[in-house]
Amino acid sequence: MRIHSDVGLSFDDVLLVPKRNSFGSRKNVSLKSRLTKNISLSIPIVSANMDTVTGSRLAIVMAQNGGMGIIHRFNTIEEEAAEVRIVKRQSSYIIKEPYTIDTGRSVGDARAMSQAYGVSGFPVVDGKRLVGIVTNRDLWFQRDETPINGVMTKIKDMVVIEKRSGMEDNFVDMFRKHKVEKIPIVDRRSNLIGMVTAKDIMNLGDDRSTKSKEGTLMVGGAVGVKDAVKRADALVKAGADLLVIDIAHGHSDAVIDTIRKLKRRFDVDVVAGNVATAAGAEELISSGADAIKVGIGPGSVCTTRLVTGSGVPQLTAIRWACEAAEREGVPVIADGGIRTSGDIAKALAAGASTVMLGRVFAGTEEAPGSTIMRDGKKYKFYRGMSSISANSRKLEVDRSDFDMSDIVGEGNESFVPYTGHAKDILIQLCGGLRSALSYSGAIDIEEFRNKAELIRISPDGHRESYSKLGS
Ligand code: XMP
Repeated sequence: MRIHSDVGLSFDDVLLVPKRNSFGSRKNVSLKSRLTKNISLSIPIVSANMDTVTGSRLAIVMAQNGGMGIIHRFNTIEEEAAEVRIVKRQSSYIIKEPYTIDTGRSVGDARAMSQAYGVSGFPVVDGKRLVGIVTNRDLWFQRDETPINGVMTKIKDMVVIEKRSGMEDNFVDMFRKHKVEKIPIVDRRSNLIGMVTAKDIMNLGDDRSTKSKEGTLMVGGAVGVKDAVKRADALVKAGADLLVIDIAHGHSDAVIDTIRKLKRRFDVDVVAGNVATAAGAEELISSGADAIKVGIGPGSVCTTRLVTGSGVPQLTAIRWACEAAEREGVPVIADGGIRTSGDIAKALAAGASTVMLGRVFAGTEEAPGSTIMRDGKKYKFYRGMSSISANSRKLEVDRSDFDMSDIVGEGNESFVPYTGHAKDILIQLCGGLRSALSYSGAIDIEEFRNKAELIRISPDGHRESYSKLGS
């Protein structure tokens, strides 16, 4: 038995020591950082692969604003791939394969599709040929059995683009002029080949958005170890830009084997984790991982440390893993326990390149699940992926024959306050982080990591930091 002489530290044990700033406004600070060996982000933030955090809705907002979302794996392979596909379809000006409805279908069918896909209207097609468009308004007051071609706007009365080069420049003008919500794109034979929506143009991220070479929003997908290759295959076919091996104790033969298999078969970066030591990081890197996820038990809904007595306080875990990762030039993702932009700054100062957040996004509009009202306040549900309820969901999905009474939960579940749109949360976090870098006199994250100095603080120092809260 060995007892470490190091003291394990976490975010609240330290503060960043202010340093001379020579560049003025925090507006000049760049938050660009590396997520993996081959993927860079405009902001160093990713949303957690948890079923109450990242589905396609949050992943879209994350990528539009320069971060990235990792779709969770607590669903069937087809369901996870479908979420990836939604992000990839959303991504650029042109939706390449819009959902369509066949001319022979009914108003009831259109209503059901609208509900299932969460879209407000469909091009109507005869085979591939565009014959009309139907939007939710066309369905108002109509009976379910009414044929769709009786209520649609016919092609002769529609605004349609015939594909030609350079047309992207005209979209804003076209929407302004015609005041329509969707414009289908057809080829010379009137076959539907795409669609642009006014909403997508309005929501288009600026240059900061995280886009692939093809111009689509980037998204990651989580895999386990059991069905890793099968799941990864479906995710990559759906367009996933990144695979994340999502295992609570990642320093294991099974994860090492999975990294090797995925790197052999797929041409996308692979993130592996979670680990909390230099040895863990080192072995996953030498097996081929393109980034390492760090965090054993720091998360807000984690009970791993209580149930197993295992873990490393997160700041020390990041530092240990980074010592190995920096030697190999592999980025580290600090996963769990981050509540504020100050915590993000401390994680980056310790050497992480990006952070993964669960709870911070769980209360947002774009996180899966509906809001509930309690005493006049809105809440959303958040749960650990090793909680008993998440495990029983996994049982449902896998239909495997393990016995529920054998499951030992390592996670909690709770309601978290509804916090509005994720984009607004990101604005706050990034503003705070820019400020943090400027307090250390750093113009970008690389300089910050070199310059940052952390000081351990006493319980009184800690009280001093927090004493203003609520006053
Ligand atoms: P935050 O603090 O952002 O943490 O809510 C999110 C991270 O927590 C991890 N996670 C768990 N850890 N039991 C655990 O020990 C669980 O049930 C659990 N669920 C999530 C995970 O790393 C996530 O990104």
